[in-house]
Amino acid sequence: MTDTRLYIEGGRKISGSLSVHGAKNSVLPVLAATLLSPSVSRIKNCPALSDVYSSTRILGSLGCKCRSDKSAIEVDATALSDCEISESLMREMRSSIVFLGAILGRLRRCRLSFPGGCELGPRPIDIHISGLRSLGAKIIEDHGVLDCTLPGTVTGAVINLPLPSVGATENIMLAATIGSGVTLIHNAAREPEIKDLAGFINAMGGKISGAGSSTVTVEGVEKLHGAEFSVMPDRIVAATYMGAAAITGGELMLTGVRPSDMISTISQFEQMGCGVYPYSDRIFISAKKPLNPIKTVRTAPYPGFPTDCQPILMAVLTRARGTSVIVENIFENRFRAAPELRRLGADIKAEGRVAVVEGVPRLSGSPVVATDLRAGAALVLAGLAAEGTTTVSNINYIDRGYEQLEAALKSVGARIKRV
Ligand code: EPZ
Repeated sequence: MTDTRLYIEGGRKISGSLSVHGAKNSVLPVLAATLLSPSVSRIKNCPALSDVYSSTRILGSLGCKCRSDKSAIEVDATALSDCEISESLMREMRSSIVFLGAILGRLRRCRLSFPGGCELGPRPIDIHISGLRSLGAKIIEDHGVLDCTLPGTVTGAVINLPLPSVGATENIMLAATIGSGVTLIHNAAREPEIKDLAGFINAMGGKISGAGSSTVTVEGVEKLHGAEFSVMPDRIVAATYMGAAAITGGELMLTGVRPSDMISTISQFEQMGCGVYPYSDRIFISAKKPLNPIKTVRTAPYPGFPTDCQPILMAVLTRARGTSVIVENIFENRFRAAPELRRLGADIKAEGRVAVVEGVPRLSGSPVVATDLRAGAALVLAGLAAEGTTTVSNINYIDRGYEQLEAALKSVGARIKRV
């Protein structure tokens, strides 16, 4: 961990306008999908994130050529030569597991080390593995390495996911695209990022329908061609910016967003008493009144309230007038922002999957440590509202999912700098 930190002088209202960059959780599977065709694809609206650079390094290690210009990345996957992802690259970014389906789809063979757990708890891949086995994959796990082969062509399958796993849905879509027959994925994840991935694969000549619903249908095709695609806006970054306005009692115009992806998130901000005005590709939020608590908020698979927004909402609720209860139903260890928020004066009791947040009249600045991507963002939001100076360290976590967060917040009135 580098010792670069964010220094924040709290107590200033956020106000102004911010554009929202492309979605991390869409660009990662889309970059993996470029492997499916021995050609050149151009991915636009790519965010400048460390997870994106990790993905281009993985593509490079497999024999692809990546070229980025401004916010587009061009991937030439013609010379895909290797089917193995090194342990160090897998450890750098656990969501590299989504390359498994893409490499199998193209080379019918893949070796990668088991993705480690992460800050949110063990990140099992049993649903990925059983889904790929339903497509005919032979997957051997030994000494922490997954050795996978996909003999012959995929001739279709009916797969019922035990829970709507985003990554597993994506991996099955990627592995089933090239082949014959039809694959049905029941209880598929419905996140907008799944629709984005289907949109890109279809632009390459794939035949995926039902993405965004609970049943995704993948009709096997013989081959794909390169395509140009623009990644959807990041709905979690948009929610984070809304949190900055809410926690400081300010107002923000967000541009380049898709409000229809954010209905459950917008409703939480409205319950806190914020004025939220969604238009076609923008959202205006104003938090002129003191914030109300939220009696109970539960995270759920899309279209429920996103687990990635839970730490963000927790930070904002530390300033609400009263008691809020948060139930985290997706990950088993996702209240890691709580102890650090308490160091800023928040009153939070987290027990298992339930956290009780008692609003406090003020927060006070303190050195705090980011423990994961969204917890780090939550600490930055709390620092914006805390009196005095807050320093946030381990901001490498934040750089995985936010493009220059400090520059964005500074442009709308925050006193924040990276040192
Ligand atoms: C994706 O992770 C996102 N990451 C996560 O965002 C997000 O929190 C998560 O979906 C839920 O929305 C990317 O898209 C790169 P899951 P993923 O498979 O695919 C369990 C962020 O902050 N599970 O839907 O790993 C799992 O343990 C990141 O941007 C199994 O049990 O999520 C979890 O409890 C964090 N077995 C639940 O399902 C499996 O084989 C949801 O996981 C797979 C998952």
